[in-house]
Amino acid sequence: MPEPIVGRLVVVGIGLIGGSLALSLKAAAACREVIGVARRRQTCEQAIELGIVDRAEVSLESVLPELGEGDVIFVAVPTLAVQGVFEVLRDRLPAGVTVTDGASVKGSVVEAAGRVWGRLPEFLVPGHPIAGSEQSGVTAARDDLYIAHRVILTPLAETAASHFQRVERMWQAAGAEVLTMPVREHDEVLAATSHLPHVIAYGLVDTLAHDAENENIFRYAAGGFRDFTRIASSDPTMWRDIMLANRDAILAAIDLYSANLSELRGAIATGDSDRLMGIFTRAKAARDHFTKMLAKKAYTENMQEQEVTFIARPGGAVSGSLRVPGDKSMSHRSIMLGSLAEGVTEVEGFLEGEDALATLQAFRDMGVVIEGPDNGRVVIHGVGLHGLQAPPGPLYLGNSGTSMRLLAGLLAGQSFDVTLTGDESLSKRPMNRVADPLREMGAEIGTGPEGRPPLKITGGRQLHGIDYRLPMASAQVKSCVLLAGLYAEGETSTTEPAPTRDHTERMLTGFGYEVQRDGPRASLRGGGRLRGGRIDVPADISSATFFMVAAAIAPGSEVLLEHVGINPTRDGVINILRAMGADIELLNRREVGGEPVADIRVRHAPLAGIRIPEAQVPLAIDEFPALFVAAACAAGKTVLTGAEELRVKESDRIQAMADGLEILGVRAEPTPDGIVIEGAGEGAVFDGGTVDSLGDHRIAMAFAVASLRARDTIRIQNCANVATSFPDFVRLAQRAGMNLAQE
Ligand code: S3P
Repeated sequence: MPEPIVGRLVVVGIGLIGGSLALSLKAAAACREVIGVARRRQTCEQAIELGIVDRAEVSLESVLPELGEGDVIFVAVPTLAVQGVFEVLRDRLPAGVTVTDGASVKGSVVEAAGRVWGRLPEFLVPGHPIAGSEQSGVTAARDDLYIAHRVILTPLAETAASHFQRVERMWQAAGAEVLTMPVREHDEVLAATSHLPHVIAYGLVDTLAHDAENENIFRYAAGGFRDFTRIASSDPTMWRDIMLANRDAILAAIDLYSANLSELRGAIATGDSDRLMGIFTRAKAARDHFTKMLAKKAYTENMQEQEVTFIARPGGAVSGSLRVPGDKSMSHRSIMLGSLAEGVTEVEGFLEGEDALATLQAFRDMGVVIEGPDNGRVVIHGVGLHGLQAPPGPLYLGNSGTSMRLLAGLLAGQSFDVTLTGDESLSKRPMNRVADPLREMGAEIGTGPEGRPPLKITGGRQLHGIDYRLPMASAQVKSCVLLAGLYAEGETSTTEPAPTRDHTERMLTGFGYEVQRDGPRASLRGGGRLRGGRIDVPADISSATFFMVAAAIAPGSEVLLEHVGINPTRDGVINILRAMGADIELLNRREVGGEPVADIRVRHAPLAGIRIPEAQVPLAIDEFPALFVAAACAAGKTVLTGAEELRVKESDRIQAMADGLEILGVRAEPTPDGIVIEGAGEGAVFDGGTVDSLGDHRIAMAFAVASLRARDTIRIQNCANVATSFPDFVRLAQRAGMNLAQE
């Protein structure tokens, strides 16, 4: 048996918090003995009877002489009673014993220690388990209270590492996740997130209880009242102590809340429906997603799991009719232009993926009322070109390069300052490509080292139009400059070296904003207006690509992909696959809201390697991971050149694919601006193996498709970001006939 983490655990105050730690450590065999200390004899007896402690005493003093190295005293009494416990310990604490506590306020505990010992003792590890319930007392103790809960430790400069580690390991043994924080920060955070809600809950119930009609009020009080006021059943002594001990931070939180409450009152009094919808939709979104936002993670459920691994079993074929999710590029732009328009914009087919939701959340943070998304339907209450408000903090854009680059343009001409941040992948992506032209227009923009995010945009700068020649084929850069042009004096124009997706130009026109187009040049004049309307977002050809390639490579396949956008600036994948010999038909071609749409039928056919025409590269820029899989299945060599942009996508897609293909036994030679892939032609092409998608959604989905022509299972790591563009991918792939699962 390994040595337990704690020798003797002395729990001073055997209530919910202390008793639950005792039970948890016993269950985990993490301590040798538990001694309880309670003021009342009856509590001691109950604690023994319930198996919470091995023995119990009414006096702490009597327990101390037998303690020594490796033992821990856990002080779990109300905050203001902690000093009294420290006084008992002062001249009697044997060397080597660790003292820790569970009080909700850390500043007052540290001050009490200073008063009692005249210094901050090295054996003291202040702590606070963020767990509990409105129940209290010894009978409420549970052995699973701390599992998957957080415990914040606030070690001091004086705290010895050995004592800190003992307490850290003790809480981990109880199933908790341990974090550390400075004392002051802890008290401010808790004032806002825990102490203020208790003030409000107690206050609300008290207000109603004083009402003469209270009996009726309580009789008819339904779920909302119960949910909201549950914590008003908490232990009054404990909460009185917390209010007194954390006075300043709680007062600051109350003041902030009071200001917000009077704003809400004002909106109700004046019948300001927009303001009410604004407050409520922002709050709902924040509440729905707050854990993920705090974790700086994401906006949809999928991303909660940080580690997602795909298991793609070999073989199979795809068939049936499928509708893949809405176009990512158009979804972003629908929120942006809808927000800046006058009047209401109704969007159908909106992509509820992480990236587009990041854009949506950013506009909510800037005061735009947005209803939904609800099954692809979003209703945006436009605020006009000059109606955005300063967001309360930095805008976090997750994994989404499109959000950051387009927003940079839109925000460069606003009156307020704003900072744009993103996740690890986005934080590595080049932003000078947008910052440079925007500075030329008069914007003030700061970046991180080497032009990486965060972008810090200073408001109040008057922009002027420029005639910008893009150094690379990039729709994001083009769109950024044109969107800044809405706020610039005079004419802004872009000239691109090769055609890139033109959704910005088309959608601006759809919103009634005049855009001149002449070959590679697009231009507009600042100072116009956008008019809200309806937008029908077709299915994303970039998502459809995975099923097009799947059907093309897997014998016996035939799929119909419905209502896919086939804008000529996006159809490179169709041209390239056809050149390789794929059997692709475009059926029912039509135009929807200014964008060409078709149903795409793909049947299996043998493919042959080709030299990919460079002109097709920008038209298929997001489709290469899947096209590389097609190339590996084609007979002969496929050569890609002129595609250096692939190296600065969500990952370095040339390297990431070359590495993965090599693991799966395919010969793939990366070059600075492309790749050469030796296709095998017939039969099973890929070995089984484990590949890393590097958190890049399109790499993950491409390798999943490869399994259709694999000899053995392909495990794909780091797939959580598939939710950025294709939240439902696994289910749809299964429906189509692929043998794909999430581990
Ligand atoms: C996008 C443009 C492309 C593309 C991205 C979306 C857009 O990027 O890769 O997924 O919506 O404008 P670049 O313009 O940087 O090539």
